[in-house]
Amino acid sequence: MEKSFNKILKSHKESNGSIISLLQQIQNEFGYIPEKAVFWFSNILDIPASRFFGTATFYAQFNLKPRGKNIITACCGTACHVRGGDRLINNIKNEIGLSGEEKTTGDRKFTLEQVACVGACSAAPVVIINEKVYGKITPEKLKKEIKALKES
Ligand code: FES
Repeated sequence: MEKSFNKILKSHKESNGSIISLLQQIQNEFGYIPEKAVFWFSNILDIPASRFFGTATFYAQFNLKPRGKNIITACCGTACHVRGGDRLINNIKNEIGLSGEEKTTGDRKFTLEQVACVGACSAAPVVIINEKVYGKITPEKLKKEIKALKES
């Protein structure tokens, strides 16, 4: 891990980057921002860890916990809600095996994220699977897509 940290540090210094760009590099390398990375860079750059955590928690693009290989984003906005969004979310949880407040499956194959509105209300209900948008998605279509991901 430290080898990666040093590589990122070198790039960060060469580009005279900001905390945001540094966090982006860390997330690109590890898929999330490990706590160990925050404290390592905080120490090396003499920047309080709280600034890293503050920035990482302010911007939705950053993840402080590992995410799954497949990211499913379910829209919870009003239009999607009235067109069965809650039921779809429950279906997704059942299909991938999430319970309670869990967001990522134990095998880290799936992460389910819920967002307010993805801006495609006319296509509600909307689910995004690995950056591909599925509008007017049905439970059957969703099940088929998840099954394919499980087998891949
Ligand atoms: S409410 Fe779901 S796309 Fe807008």
